[in-house]
Amino acid sequence: MPVLAKCGGTPLRSKKPLGWTVASERDREGLREVYDGSFWAPGGEKEKEFCEEFAAFSDVKHCFTVANGTVSIQLILRALGIGYGDEVIVPPYTFIASVSSLIYAGVTPVFADIDPETFQLSPAAAERAITPRTKAIMPVYVGGRPADLDAFVKLCEKYGLVLIGDAAQAVGAKYCGRGVAHYAKATSISCQNSKNLTCGEGGLILSDDDAFAESLSTILNGGVGKDGKTGAIGCDFGISAFQASVLSSQLEALPAQIEKRSGNAAYLDRRLGELDFVYTLANDPKITVNAYHLYMFGLKEEKLGGISLERFVSAVRAEGAPVSTGYKPVCTFPCVGSAYAEKCVGGKIYTHPFIPAAERVSAHEACWIYQSWLLGSKEDMDDIVNALVKVYENRKELIEGGEAK
Ligand SMILES: Cc1ncc(COP(=O)(O)O)c(C=O)c1O
Repeated sequence: MPVLAKCGGTPLRSKKPLGWTVASERDREGLREVYDGSFWAPGGEKEKEFCEEFAAFSDVKHCFTVANGTVSIQLILRALGIGYGDEVIVPPYTFIASVSSLIYAGVTPVFADIDPETFQLSPAAAERAITPRTKAIMPVYVGGRPADLDAFVKLCEKYGLVLIGDAAQAVGAKYCGRGVAHYAKATSISCQNSKNLTCGEGGLILSDDDAFAESLSTILNGGVGKDGKTGAIGCDFGISAFQASVLSSQLEALPAQIEKRSGNAAYLDRRLGELDFVYTLANDPKITVNAYHLYMFGLKEEKLGGISLERFVSAVRAEGAPVSTGYKPVCTFPCVGSAYAEKCVGGKIYTHPFIPAAERVSAHEACWIYQSWLLGSKEDMDDIVNALVKVYENRKELIEGGEAK
């Protein structure tokens, strides 16, 4: 009789998955207030209040709301004057929007490898990718984990480059006690439905730089600057008062959620750290808050006896545990090397960079657990660990059973 659910056995966990989004009475009250009021458009009091609160929460002076976390990167580039003919260094281990936003802006993405111990852009690889056309480095805080910000700040100073943070997944993350946005010229956050601070769809731009903030507000004001003149090519990319209201009430819940996720992540670190077929990501004491949009860890390929990452993880999922495989390197996506993308940037996009760590990690090792599960109980975390152990201990079934064929 097979033991693994994938091969016909009984799943380890039958409880329902933990869902997202989580709505509160405060969300409903806030939405009702907006509904009963007369101002539903972008730019109202609700939005202003939220931006002030969120900027303070993130340790910067300026916060802007925009349509989503893709447009936010395009707007950052536009406000910085980075565009056609310029290059920006990005990791390949990210969501496609980190790259499509550059291409939309006419910027050539240049891919640099990740650090296999953290799954984040490697500062050494980024340095090797700098060319005379490089204008900025954009680490992506994948999974909500801050990249090596001290190293990136130094690198940008050394070469006169701008540091942009793609913190789409890192709302609330802190490095050396300060919000990640403190370290970059401008930082982009996504408030899309799956994110840790959401209003269904939306984006935020954070900065401490007054000149950047003025340039961006002109763009967002239809191009009209403080002097009343059309000083920039602008457009209205704002969110409605309904979305701003949901962001405000969701922000109230965020600190307790961050604490809960961190507690469960520490527990997983400890339990997974005891398994000899798993590795956990390197500890970095400079990361004072990891936002844990994803809990990421790796399987040791050499321990799996030839079973692919895909197959192993699908067997864990069949047990009722929410583990998934992560990104494939974005540079390998046909759309990135397409004729359209090259037309946008006016030249070749190098889609075969030297990225052995990103290739190995994404094909053979990386596993993710989504943030909503980190809001669960210790028993939920135990179910995940036990499902991994069950599949590992019975992995022969995946080789000998129908699954192997
Ligand atoms: C790393 C990263 N960058 C950018 C984005 C784009 O954000 P949005 O979906 O709000 O456009 C996402 C969204 O998933 C993301 O994960």
